[in-house]
Amino acid sequence: MTTRSLFLLPGDGIGPEAMAEVRKLIAHINEKEDAGFVTDEGLVGGSAYDAHGQAISEEDMAKAMAADAVLFGAVGGPKWDGVPYEVRPEAGLLRLRKDMALFANLRPAICYPALAASSSLKPEVVEGLDILIVRELTGGVYFGEPKEIVDLGNGQKRGIDTQVYDTFEIERIAGVAFELARTRGNKVCSMEKHNVMKSGVLWKEVVAATHAAKYSDVELTHMLADAGGMQLVRWPKQFDVIVTDNLFGDMLSDVAAMLTGSLGMLPSASLGAPDPVTGKRKALYEPVHGSAPDIAGQGIANPIAMIASFAMCLRYSFGMIAEADRLEKAISTVLDKGLRTGDIMSDGCTRVTTSEMGDAVLEAYAAG
Ligand code: NAI
Ligand code: MG
Repeated sequence: MTTRSLFLLPGDGIGPEAMAEVRKLIAHINEKEDAGFVTDEGLVGGSAYDAHGQAISEEDMAKAMAADAVLFGAVGGPKWDGVPYEVRPEAGLLRLRKDMALFANLRPAICYPALAASSSLKPEVVEGLDILIVRELTGGVYFGEPKEIVDLGNGQKRGIDTQVYDTFEIERIAGVAFELARTRGNKVCSMEKHNVMKSGVLWKEVVAATHAAKYSDVELTHMLADAGGMQLVRWPKQFDVIVTDNLFGDMLSDVAAMLTGSLGMLPSASLGAPDPVTGKRKALYEPVHGSAPDIAGQGIANPIAMIASFAMCLRYSFGMIAEADRLEKAISTVLDKGLRTGDIMSDGCTRVTTSEMGDAVLEAYAAG
């Protein structure tokens, strides 16, 4: 039988509460569908700091590197505000992203029909929305050198960040976007600012060349990133996959996220390059939200973002497309029934706890 290794890093705050609901699903899929998931679990963030003074131990780092996929909850909270910079909870996540070389950040924006009415946009603009933003995560202006504040000596200082992209970085993120598009609506829109940025000129050229060389079956369009932001709010359903750089992707994915409602609904995936021998990609799946210290420990957090992150894991790390579709449909079914955690509560709906929501999704999955 195939075995599939999952390394679970629940983290702090509501992270462990949300992860508990995913554990139920893993157990169910193993039992009913012989999926062969083998799980191990580690400490990250504040819980790791409390245990051994590091944001993640070398042992847990090694396990994350060796696993087929990592499921990450959330880290951070006021309890650790005073700890040294290098071992603060967020350092654990940054270390994972860096050591696993997770260059492709996938952020879907899906608007479940039952929640369309509570979007800040008109229901018809968002209802049925299903787009995917592919953001380059390890290059660009957040990492380019020089990066400094220079004292100009005349009472002025100069802050410098440098946008740098090399051909291979653009090629590999474009490749991820085109491949994902083939599994969805077969359309990619690439966003940059070639009108004012040299890196944007190169971005557009390399995306077009990658398309011509290997992916001409996929429909490719280009859009200036500012116009893209406008179009995301005007008529988001025109998009399927959007591929963009680190900075624009940071902003555009947050804009897209809010088309669909609560932070408690939003999953993400971060992928590395395929292993040259096995073809497997390192991957980490996590909700977009943080540790929500204001509601942690009360059993009221929305576990859907974590559960939807697991659905992405089934889809992208294990090719379990039918199961991923079924799990996403189970989420939709539960929302259609009117079950709501506090963050997505509205009139006429039934308020449920974290574990009630998890159980309902599991039940709908099992029935589907
Ligand atoms: P947050 O995402 O933790 O919370 C923002 C607001 O949304 C809070 O009112 C919270 O109760 C609510 N919320 C978030 N997720 C929810 C869920 N699943 N169900 C119901 N309500 C939910 O962001 P915040 O408050 O800015 O940060 C709190 C801590 O989390 C900080 O220490 C921050 O550094 C950390 N953080 C960690 C991230 C990660 O682990 N990837 C990402 C973002 C923040
Ligand atoms: Mg951001």
